[in-house]
Amino acid sequence: MGRVEGKVALVTGAARGQGRSHAVHLAEEGADIIAVDICHDIASNDYPLARPEDLDETARLVEKHNRRIVPVQGDVRDRTALAAAVETGMSELGKLDIVVANAGICPLGAGGSAAAFIDAVDVDLIGVLNTVHVALPHLKAGASIIMTGSVAGLLSSASSGSCPQGLGGAGYNFAKRVIVEYTTTLAVKLAPQSIRVNAVHPTNCNTDMLQSDPMYRTFRPDLENPSAAEAEAGFRSMQAMPIPWVEPSDISYAVVYLASDESRYVTGMQLRVDGGATIQRGL
Ligand SMILES: NC(=O)c1ccc[n+]([C@@H]2O[C@H](COP(=O)([O-])OP(=O)(O)OC[C@H]3O[C@@H](n4cnc5c(N)ncnc54)[C@H](O)[C@@H]3O)[C@@H](O)[C@H]2O)c1
Repeated sequence: MGRVEGKVALVTGAARGQGRSHAVHLAEEGADIIAVDICHDIASNDYPLARPEDLDETARLVEKHNRRIVPVQGDVRDRTALAAAVETGMSELGKLDIVVANAGICPLGAGGSAAAFIDAVDVDLIGVLNTVHVALPHLKAGASIIMTGSVAGLLSSASSGSCPQGLGGAGYNFAKRVIVEYTTTLAVKLAPQSIRVNAVHPTNCNTDMLQSDPMYRTFRPDLENPSAAEAEAGFRSMQAMPIPWVEPSDISYAVVYLASDESRYVTGMQLRVDGGATIQRGL
């Protein structure tokens, strides 16, 4: 307990899934939270995104740990709105120490339109840059920036089996690959100010993004309409360990470590929480 006591964390995509889990784990360890989520769908992304009541539930769970939360419905593609969210959060919570750029979409369906490519890059790459860039002017020595990449970002474009099909998948993989480079560049440049920059790279994670028809079809291309149970066998092939996926809390443990002073000299790290998904591909 208390591993991030008294710190303030900005978490995007905080209404559900990994983002909610990060917000709750950070709160459990003593942080107050600025929680941003779009809370409505994006047309090219053919599984539903979070709803306002999901963000309310995150707020309830954070407050259960006696921490404060400033929930904001906002789109990470909108830098002005994000900057306003950070200003509002900081005026209530006083400062900003931790940034978790987690919001993401994976628009794999419908053959992958150009809009799917554009939206994937805009949310998964530009949204991450926007989040970090609105936070940067407020960060001081000891601050920690954590970005959510993906195993997909560690694979070459030719072998990116985790999120393959169509333009949406290509946009997703491209965005996640750039995050690797962005983390490294920023980590080097911010190290003299004692601001750390790291990325976590989940394998399949048990959230609504994974548990969706487009993802089932991606992992079971041999079936027209695979069920969740049929997709599970496909999901297992991703990891070297005998699991179909990791849980959001498995990623949150890495995020809390990187957010806390326990990792005070860890920067530029690409932390894989992947059940051996990358090593079994020789990476
Ligand atoms: N689930 C997986 O298998 C998996 C694997 C590797 C990486 N990831 C990455 O993990 C991160 C979290 O995804 P998840 O698994 O929790 O999925 P999720 O769909 O459950 O959660 C994503 C959250 O981001 C929000 N969001 C989407 N677009 C947004 C926008 N433009 N602005 C603000 N909020 C937005 C959604 O409403 C949702 O609450 C993403 O970056 C994703 O790419 C997921």
